[in-house]
Amino acid sequence: MITEEYAETEQYCEEVAKMAADSIADRMRSLVRSRRSIGVVLGSGLGYAAQRMLQQTCLSIPYREIPGMPVPLVPGHEGHLLIGNCAGATVFMLKGRVHFYEGHPLAAVTFATRVLYQLGVTDLILTNAAGGIRPEFRNGHLMLISGHIEWPSMNLSCVAATPRGPRSVAGTCRVFQDWGAPPVGWPHSNVWSPSLKALASGIASELTIHEGVYALMSGPNYETPAEVRAARFLGADAVGMSTVPEAMAASQRGMSVLGISCITNIASGLSDQKLDHADVTQTTASVEHQFSDWLWDVVAQMANCAPV
Ligand code: HPA
Repeated sequence: MITEEYAETEQYCEEVAKMAADSIADRMRSLVRSRRSIGVVLGSGLGYAAQRMLQQTCLSIPYREIPGMPVPLVPGHEGHLLIGNCAGATVFMLKGRVHFYEGHPLAAVTFATRVLYQLGVTDLILTNAAGGIRPEFRNGHLMLISGHIEWPSMNLSCVAATPRGPRSVAGTCRVFQDWGAPPVGWPHSNVWSPSLKALASGIASELTIHEGVYALMSGPNYETPAEVRAARFLGADAVGMSTVPEAMAASQRGMSVLGISCITNIASGLSDQKLDHADVTQTTASVEHQFSDWLWDVVAQMANCAPV
């Protein structure tokens, strides 16, 4: 029986992730499993990239059919796991993610990462929409993440700790409760894989590709112009509300992580443009074909590399 105390543990969260992975593996029987498994998370408005998977034989599982998997509510974030093949690798593509700003505890935000790890994913591509801070950034440019700044309010050191209750894992708990004792002082100087970044920057694209530092904000509001100026002063090139929790959970589990931001708008206060979530979907729609082709080439190139 699952007692209250037991349900509060990190171990419980891992067990639910294992249960989720088992249920997915069960449904994958008809697919040929490769030695190499690559995970891809498609961020806001970037779901079109899933088309390449849908063109081939693939399995599509709604998040609601995966035990414990939190379901996204934000427009542009559908909740489907697609499983298929690319250049001989098994690809787990998550179309949609949940965010901290939706009220989910970080254990829920990182739940899909835990499941991918249990499924044997060694390389994880995390994509997102972000506001551009660096002056040369334009809408539709891409930025490979070379580092990140965690805005202090989120306290992501708690990413590995599980807040109270199984409801949190299922993503329906809206209230932040005790985090319990977080693990202390694990290093995260190597969250973003330099070799995957080098691999991605070597793949030709019609889109302009930069490298830079991503500043994580808790959201759900866009930043104030003063916050953007502060982020710029601190060395940030783009700003967004996702990706870092998953990257940290993945890196903590020894996965190699590639982060890709699609610049969907110029960050608050740096242009006359009034910010709106519609800009995100408008910009991503304008680059979806080029982005999708390039991302597929990146996955194929990763698949061709020797297993890490
Ligand atoms: N700020 C934070 N998150 C975002 C932005 C932004 O300007 N654009 C897209 N996601």
